Amino acid sequence: MPRSVILGTGRAVPSRVVTNADLAESMDTSDEWILERTGIRQRHWVAEGENGVDLSKTASRAALEASGLQPSDIDAIVYASSTPDHFFPGNSLFLQHEIGFGTIPAFNVVNACSGFVYALSVADAFVQTGRYRNILVIGQEIQSTRMDVTTRGRGTAVLFADGAGAAIIGPTEEEGRGVLAFDLHGDGAHAEKLWVDGPGAKYHPPVSIEQLEEGRYFLQMDGRDVFRHAIVRMPETVETLLSETGLTKEQITLLIPHQANLRISEAVQKRLGLRDDQVYNNIERYGNTTAATIPIALDECVRAGRLRRGDLLILTAFGSGFQWGSCAIRW
Ligand code: UT7
Repeated sequence: MPRSVILGTGRAVPSRVVTNADLAESMDTSDEWILERTGIRQRHWVAEGENGVDLSKTASRAALEASGLQPSDIDAIVYASSTPDHFFPGNSLFLQHEIGFGTIPAFNVVNACSGFVYALSVADAFVQTGRYRNILVIGQEIQSTRMDVTTRGRGTAVLFADGAGAAIIGPTEEEGRGVLAFDLHGDGAHAEKLWVDGPGAKYHPPVSIEQLEEGRYFLQMDGRDVFRHAIVRMPETVETLLSETGLTKEQITLLIPHQANLRISEAVQKRLGLRDDQVYNNIERYGNTTAATIPIALDECVRAGRLRRGDLLILTAFGSGFQWGSCAIRW
């Protein structure tokens, strides 16, 4: 079976920068608190008129250019987003139409933080079976429009942000290269620890005045519990992946952890015993863009020349669900 390789990457964030000081104007928080507890200095939030599909279009075009492919070369889209522009159809179809990919199949993965790793695993399986050749994988979110920017929402509003990342994968004949393995998990017992309750089709009507007044359309999170599980599950899944592939921590060139909180990334690095140069973080500039954190970071690393042929790249994510997992790629 052929392995898949990453042929090109891209990213996009909204132009509006929101600093910690900006947030402190509408809620009881401070630059010091946010920086010390999360590592975030600024994030990008959409302005009126900007949308998620536009972000993924920019990221996709950059990935197409980087890979030297045309839209007609793409055989499928796997699009991870828990914040689609509309209830349905998912953003993948709007992207397909607006870029002009033809009538190729377009899948949607609603996994929030682990979305990109899950989407990549779906795309990789298609490449391996030969069903589709070149697949566009997207991680995109707009979290800012469901943030409570009063003091009531300060536990989440300072963390979450907007952005998109794209990666195009395709088959390779080269021995030893490509996506080596995935390790994926979920535990629905924690589904309400990080979620958005409504609007939802289980409610009659799906959206109501009470729901809005009670703020149930805001993202809700039990931050401490998510934190506690994240710092255990991410190292655990990386360890599993390494033992199943016969690789060692010393062989990791670069680990890109989901950018949830700098303290989480640092705890993961410490538990795995990795050096600073083995772990990439950019949460300082982007905040937590959920499914977009990993592909945005990946694009930055690729464009900065951080990855060379033969390097071992590990992606790992944890979040809503809880769902978590990791992926090993020989660059
Ligand atoms: O994307 C994947 C999923 N998400 C995550 O992985 C996020 C995981 N969780 C976290 O990153 C952290 O739990 C937070 C950043 C959300 C919170 O940090 P913390 O160190 O766990 O703070 P805490 O919730 O324990 O709150 C400590 C204090 C509380 O005050 P009291 O009760 O001690 O008086 C909070 O009310 O800090 C207060 N607080 C704030 N103060 C200023 C909470 N948020 C803020 C804020 N500014 N933004």
